[in-house]
Amino acid sequence: MGAGEPVGVRHVAIIMDGNGRWAKKRLLPRAMGHQRGVEAVRRVVRGARELGLEALTLYAFSTENWRRPEEEVSDLMGLMKRFILSDLDEFAQAGVRLRIIGDYSAFKPDVVELIDGAIARTASNTGTTLAVALNYGAQDEIARAATKAAAKGPITPETISAELDTADMPPLDLMIRTSGEVRLSNFLLWQCAYAELYFTDVLWPDFTLDHLREALQCFSGRERRYGGR
Ligand code: FPP
Repeated sequence: MGAGEPVGVRHVAIIMDGNGRWAKKRLLPRAMGHQRGVEAVRRVVRGARELGLEALTLYAFSTENWRRPEEEVSDLMGLMKRFILSDLDEFAQAGVRLRIIGDYSAFKPDVVELIDGAIARTASNTGTTLAVALNYGAQDEIARAATKAAAKGPITPETISAELDTADMPPLDLMIRTSGEVRLSNFLLWQCAYAELYFTDVLWPDFTLDHLREALQCFSGRERRYGGR
């Protein structure tokens, strides 16, 4: 972590919201909003490395996103493919480890293959972990984890935590949502138990490293008590 950077933040998650509104404001197609959203993803992943975050988890595709028009779903898939093809080299060389939370096996075989390749290529990296949530829903994740925990023995918060998709990641410190919406939309519900929540009106395509720094500063200013005093 560089001099003057906020300390103590290990894991940040972001609900990247507002691509559609960003495009609408400019009378552009929604696809353009998503495209500019990918540029924000690139900025934030680079920033996470610079800031020394151990983990960054991004909500890229929820279980509800399948309900969007086929063309938009296909645009999002195309963007993810292109992002892997264009940026994997840089991130792999920078020590980023890619992981996916959620069931991405529902995606088209060519996308699954690309993702599998990217995971394998970065598996032994030890820098920032970039977790991308794909076809992810927190209630589904908790139900799957509880089922696995029950098959092994007593269900406790610890045995459920150990079976979550985020099991080997540091605890979540900060959850950010852009675009002015103030809800969690089925993202990391279990992991948010003690996380700080940060909501900003900035639309995702406009989100910069300075906005991330601002959120981290706000985190450092808050006193976390974990239920104690
Ligand atoms: C929310 O905007 C954003 C999404 C549903 C998708 C997020 C995906 C990306 C930023 C691009 C792909 C990701 C990677 C990791 C390469 P919205 O469409 O719901 O916006 P709106 O609420 O303003 O309509």
